[in-house]
Amino acid sequence: MQQVVLGNEVPSASIALGCMRMAGLELQQAERMIHTALEEGIDLFDHADIYGGGRSESVFGEVLKQNPGLRDKMLIQGKCGIRKGFYDASAEHILASVDQSLQRLGVETLDILLLHRPDALFEPEEIAEAFRTLHQAGKVRYFGVSNFNSGQIQLLKKFVDQRLIVNQLQFSLVHTALIDSGMNVNIRYDHGRDYTGHTLEYCRLQEITIQAWSPFQYGMIEGVFLENPKYEKLNRQIRLLAEQKGVSDSAVAVAWIIRHPARMQTIVGTMNEERLRSICAAAKVSLTRQEWYSLYLAAGNPLP
Ligand SMILES: NC(=O)c1ccc[n+]([C@@H]2O[C@H](COP(=O)([O-])OP(=O)(O)OC[C@H]3O[C@@H](n4cnc5c(N)ncnc54)[C@H](OP(=O)(O)O)[C@@H]3O)[C@@H](O)[C@H]2O)c1
Repeated sequence: MQQVVLGNEVPSASIALGCMRMAGLELQQAERMIHTALEEGIDLFDHADIYGGGRSESVFGEVLKQNPGLRDKMLIQGKCGIRKGFYDASAEHILASVDQSLQRLGVETLDILLLHRPDALFEPEEIAEAFRTLHQAGKVRYFGVSNFNSGQIQLLKKFVDQRLIVNQLQFSLVHTALIDSGMNVNIRYDHGRDYTGHTLEYCRLQEITIQAWSPFQYGMIEGVFLENPKYEKLNRQIRLLAEQKGVSDSAVAVAWIIRHPARMQTIVGTMNEERLRSICAAAKVSLTRQEWYSLYLAAGNPLP
């Protein structure tokens, strides 16, 4: 498996397993999924307090309990800050949420904690205090954010003692807002509009690793674009490259993300072992510039 170095500090595999959909699994299925991921070289497992109302963390914790030694073979990443109907980055909520996650997971430390979404009411000093408390207590090793823009990260960085090593953002062949405006500078049409505050460039400059979430979904996780008639042209091009390279369509979709020089980590959410194995073949696929752009164009994007 290809490696990335999160925030230029924490080595990890270029593909990670998102556990948002683990809540629906029985203990043995979850156990097989986690073992398959580790066998394939995946070492980071992405959680959030809200996944399955806490059930994703609970079932994962149960697997760890049944398999002594397993915890030391992985990085566990948690997220907090989304509550039912509102966002909450108050110190009180961050501290309480981490305690509950640790309890459900049955571990003493989260390797990485991310703020799940920017809370419009966030007070950077308060977040800094919460992070300091968690770090000093040994409850969290590293920190990061998710769905933050460059300005919001800068504001947070002014107060937080620890480095922010990750920004988790939606990015895929059908969700390319992070890169579109960079290829359409000074042009007055939608692709020239910057929707992100140049977050990709900012994260690269600051050595904050982007984790790409939902690599196969279109919209806000509405459905999968692979084999979807809405994306016929894109799927034709994906299939062509998949056949040439002897891998699955899913592997090509992930290889496209991995090819980007920002060295993103892709967070895949399948709960199917065979599919996960086929996706991990992406780490062995190399796409030429021309192949990479052919997929971008087939997704319906213009180049000026
Ligand atoms: N920070 C955020 O705001 C945020 C938001 C959303 C998600 N996330 C993270 O990102 C992770 C991944 O999200 P996701 O699950 O939406 O991502 P995904 O990997 O794009 O989607 C996985 C889902 O697509 C299904 N699927 C159907 N056909 C597929 C194919 N050919 N290839 C791959 N998958 C196929 C999978 O079903 P099977 O299980 O049957 O394979 C699974 O239900 C989450 O687990 C979570 O950790 C973060």
